[in-house]
Amino acid sequence: MTRSIEVVPLGQALGAELRGIDASVPLTDDQRARIIAALDAHGVVVLRKQQLTPRQQVALCQKLGKMRVSFMNDLSVPGVPELTVVSNIVENGKPIGLVDAGALWHCDGSYLPNPDLYTVLHALEIPQRDGQTLGDTLFLSTCAAYDALPDALRKALDDAEAVHSLTHHIQKKLDNNFKAPPVKDPKPDVVHPAVRVHPNSGRRCLYLTEGHTKELVGFSPEQSAAILKQVAEHVKQPQFVYRHRWQEGDLLIWDNCSTQHLAITDYGTLRRRLHRAGIESGALA
Ligand SMILES: [Fe+2]
Repeated sequence: MTRSIEVVPLGQALGAELRGIDASVPLTDDQRARIIAALDAHGVVVLRKQQLTPRQQVALCQKLGKMRVSFMNDLSVPGVPELTVVSNIVENGKPIGLVDAGALWHCDGSYLPNPDLYTVLHALEIPQRDGQTLGDTLFLSTCAAYDALPDALRKALDDAEAVHSLTHHIQKKLDNNFKAPPVKDPKPDVVHPAVRVHPNSGRRCLYLTEGHTKELVGFSPEQSAAILKQVAEHVKQPQFVYRHRWQEGDLLIWDNCSTQHLAITDYGTLRRRLHRAGIESGALA
């Protein structure tokens, strides 16, 4: 018998729990449609207590769209190049995964010509101290933030474009004392609209991030820096933010157009391990 699916909103502007789906078995078309509808409405969706093998996570992702194979292959799950390990664990003197991933506000893959549509993160080990879960991830709604922009700034950004840069991002992380792995294949900078129209919901989404946006095209360096600073302060106001407190077994899926995210690195050497997948296209409702 098919379990009924329930959507429970978690935050004011974004975030929802989706109950009634076992992600370890192939999704039905109806379940897929419900996940996409929940993503369109809430930006971030969590399925709790999911016991998944890496291959089962890949199967779910393939149902949502075309997967991106990470270009950091030495940090992928052994034998599963579609999944990247996100972890602070060191084995035999070597990090087993990406460390300090997401330490600045960003949308995944914005430094690529075809940014990630969705990201799917499965929590395997979540650190705790004194009964308190650590390593939360913050999300903000880029559409709610856009809607609340001051009129003059919204008009200035509506037709603007901006440069997104992986090189800029890595330098910014190092400047802020975060770890950043060397990238063997540095990507050329790309230009994206400052405001994207979401392909499903039609909502306008601010597409400027603290982490990857280097400059606005057609503005002086001073004007560009001032606007990006103003936007960065605007988007992280509490009314646009949902804080995800991880539980082991969480399967978190988010939309990289309607949300930005930031990882809190407050767990030191306490073990943290997740499997990450990127979906670059597909899955329109
Ligand atoms: Fe990220």
